[in-house]
Amino acid sequence: MFFTVSGCCPKATDYLSQRLDMSEKAKIEVMDDGPLIVSDLRSLEGAGEDAVKKKIALCRCGASENKPFCDGSHRGAGFKSSLSLGESSAPGKEGDAVIRPLEAGPYEVCGDVELCVEDDLGLSSDDPYYLCRCGASENKPFCDGSHKKIGFTGK
Ligand code: FES
Repeated sequence: MFFTVSGCCPKATDYLSQRLDMSEKAKIEVMDDGPLIVSDLRSLEGAGEDAVKKKIALCRCGASENKPFCDGSHRGAGFKSSLSLGESSAPGKEGDAVIRPLEAGPYEVCGDVELCVEDDLGLSSDDPYYLCRCGASENKPFCDGSHKKIGFTGK
């Protein structure tokens, strides 16, 4: 799904593909004033399998016309959310990496997904955790329930 292995017999190709898939850990990078950049995700619920590529950008400002994906609208919307990116990260949990854009709510992040940030954001050991996609949270990149107050529809 994420790698192309050619020049091998079918059995070896299957084996190598599985090994390569398992070696890549899903990762979320939070962009300053912009989207979530997600790499090596296994499943984005509600989106077709073709939509999950090696790297995708998920809207977190709430203004995209192509949700859950970023379409660049954060610039016109004046979205502001700064966060220091760095080497340290919150560890992912066991299990397949899945992101669920909840209807009229946040992204639910489950399984082995690294959240890459420099600052200690106090990520709990809870699985799943929730990332804002309406743009209104006072605790970005996490959801604080503000989507209800602003009437976010997710559309
Ligand atoms: S973050 Fe880019 S359109 Fe919302």
